[in-house]
Amino acid sequence: MNLTVIDHPLTRHYLTVLRDRRTSPEPFRAAARRLTYTLVHEATARAPLYQEDIETPLEPVAGYHMPGVVAIAVLRAGLGMLDAVVDLIPDVKVGFAGLQRDEETAQPMEYYFKLPDLSGSVVLILEPMLATGGSLSWAAAKAKTSGARDITALCVVAAPEGVRRMYQDHPDVRIVAAALDRELDAHYYIRPGLGDMGDRLFGTLG
Ligand code: URA
Repeated sequence: MNLTVIDHPLTRHYLTVLRDRRTSPEPFRAAARRLTYTLVHEATARAPLYQEDIETPLEPVAGYHMPGVVAIAVLRAGLGMLDAVVDLIPDVKVGFAGLQRDEETAQPMEYYFKLPDLSGSVVLILEPMLATGGSLSWAAAKAKTSGARDITALCVVAAPEGVRRMYQDHPDVRIVAAALDRELDAHYYIRPGLGDMGDRLFGTLG
């Protein structure tokens, strides 16, 4: 299975802050950003590099640079991971993917999608809560249609149901997550999870 669950003390610490119901939006946003650094570190660990020889003040040395990276933030919770990606990879290009459930048909409906050219890029899809896997599968399919070949999904929490769906639909897409939780409940929340990531990031809890 193409899933890596990060077992780093910092990841576990920030995940605990995110899970804690007492965490208010400001520290929640900070913890989401800090945890995302650890996900990006793992997700780019095998990224191809190109070599550019440089000189230190003392002598020439081989230097290495990252090729083009594109991040696709799945709206709206993926925005909570974007600052960390932009901080670590300042010339990252950013796309956005918005999907919502049609109130009448209950079918997922695309309401916004904008991507830069993806060919030859390392693509990171920011989907913090991998629940049913529907949004991530859709975003990965759209990214592939736009030329993406090297795709990694960054998730804060993944549910087994979402991981299975991704394995069926996109076995080539890697998933890097801070946790693989127990299950989805009847309302499609991940358990134990952390609640609604968007609401907790943006302070829109009822
Ligand atoms: N989206 C969330 O924000 N939380 C969940 O538990 C599942 C989907």
